[in-house]
Amino acid sequence: MQIDVILGLQWGDEGKGKIVDYLANDYDIVARFQGGPNAGHTLKFGGNKYVLHTVPSGIFRAGLINLIGNGVVLDPVIFQRELRSLEQSQVEFKSRLLVSRKAHLILPTHRWLDAASEAHKGKAKIGSTLKGIGPTYMDKTGRNGLRVGDVNQPGFRDLYEGLKTKHLELLKIYPAIDFDLAGEEKAWFESLDTLRSLQFVDSEYYIDDALRAGKRILAEGAQGSMLDIDFGTYPYVTSSNTITAGVCTGLGIAPQQVGRVIGITKAYCTRVGGGPFPTELDNETGEKLRQEGMEFGSTTGRPRRCGWIDLPQLRYTNILNGTTELCMTKIDVLNSFTEIAAATHYRYDGKDQQNLPYDLCQAEIEPVLQHFEGWQSSLEDIYSFDALPKQARAFLEALENYLGVPVKMVSTGPEREKLIIR
Ligand code: GDP
Ligand code: IMO
Ligand code: MG
Repeated sequence: MQIDVILGLQWGDEGKGKIVDYLANDYDIVARFQGGPNAGHTLKFGGNKYVLHTVPSGIFRAGLINLIGNGVVLDPVIFQRELRSLEQSQVEFKSRLLVSRKAHLILPTHRWLDAASEAHKGKAKIGSTLKGIGPTYMDKTGRNGLRVGDVNQPGFRDLYEGLKTKHLELLKIYPAIDFDLAGEEKAWFESLDTLRSLQFVDSEYYIDDALRAGKRILAEGAQGSMLDIDFGTYPYVTSSNTITAGVCTGLGIAPQQVGRVIGITKAYCTRVGGGPFPTELDNETGEKLRQEGMEFGSTTGRPRRCGWIDLPQLRYTNILNGTTELCMTKIDVLNSFTEIAAATHYRYDGKDQQNLPYDLCQAEIEPVLQHFEGWQSSLEDIYSFDALPKQARAFLEALENYLGVPVKMVSTGPEREKLIIR
């Protein structure tokens, strides 16, 4: 058996949560492999909306195992809040939500370091979600981090105090920020009891056993490929590998165990936070995309920056991910547009180019657009590819031809059932 992967091909918020929730029924296990509560994955069904930050998006499917892999960074306070809201929704999870012992813990002081670092950067700030992601991954690679498995070790309090003391020293080099250490520390330690009530696993062994037993596994990405620490628009990125390679290190599997790679792209493009965005529309059209697409962050509520779909950017992230199939979401957002567009090239250094320049932050690049006729009709009751308006099919086929990857799914609304499988 192999592990299938769902991940975002743009700057996050492509609709990964919705698609994972939909497809989860075909799997036995859904596993998150990186990121942390910077993620906000929205699911809509039965008239309700749920936003998940740490918990994998397979949790609403009865009997399905949900695994939080070693590549994830976990804030136990946010995690506890998520679990309480699952309880309120009568979702049973105790026996089927597993956490890797090797996942790293986000401490309250990690969040303050995040805030202080952003304040220090001033105008050049990353636009972080301020969940402590960067500082926690820094402690992981700096070999100072605390891991989930440590919470059951006798010396845990001392490990915590040591790391906290180091953080308090570090905070002195930054602009002063307000925080309530005693209050947050108390809540943090209390939340560890909820974490301890779950089953801890070594995901590498767990998944190996599961694959040998013929279990079907779906890996759920967070963020998007353009936020990847190595290949994204550095330094305006997150701190983990968001691409397919992250599945190997974030769960403990070998590359040949990766099966289908389902890359998700919106029918247009958004980004939240700072950094370059070649096709951004800082005009009425961008505003229309934001309003029609309700483009406000699931985690922070910030308005998302909007622009046209960017084919050279998608070509780049297809190369990085080995995408075997595409899923286009939010195509319905374009219903009322008379004309839509896609970037096919970038113009920089005096010529048209398909590759992203080394430093997208510095480069003066101009996207070259191809225009498409809009369909100007609702996609409300359309459940087959062939029933889509011909203009929508032309748009999808242009994407397929450009990328050489088939579009296998088209999402026509936020609700679970609004999905065309081809
Ligand atoms: P994720 O982080 O990739 O899981 O995506 P988010 O949940 O942050 O953002 C996607 C938003 O678009 C959510 O509000 C979803 O409910 C919504 N959404 C997902 N698919 C569609 C779709 O096909 N059409 C529309 N209109 N909304 C969608
Ligand atoms: P999902 O999984 C969109 C962005 C932040 C910021 C940068 C670094 O919902 O798609 P961080 O908090 O990681 O230090 O922020 O990355 N970012 C996201 N943008 N969707 C996300 O997750 C994101 N997670 C982080 O806005 O620009
Ligand atoms: Mg999101």
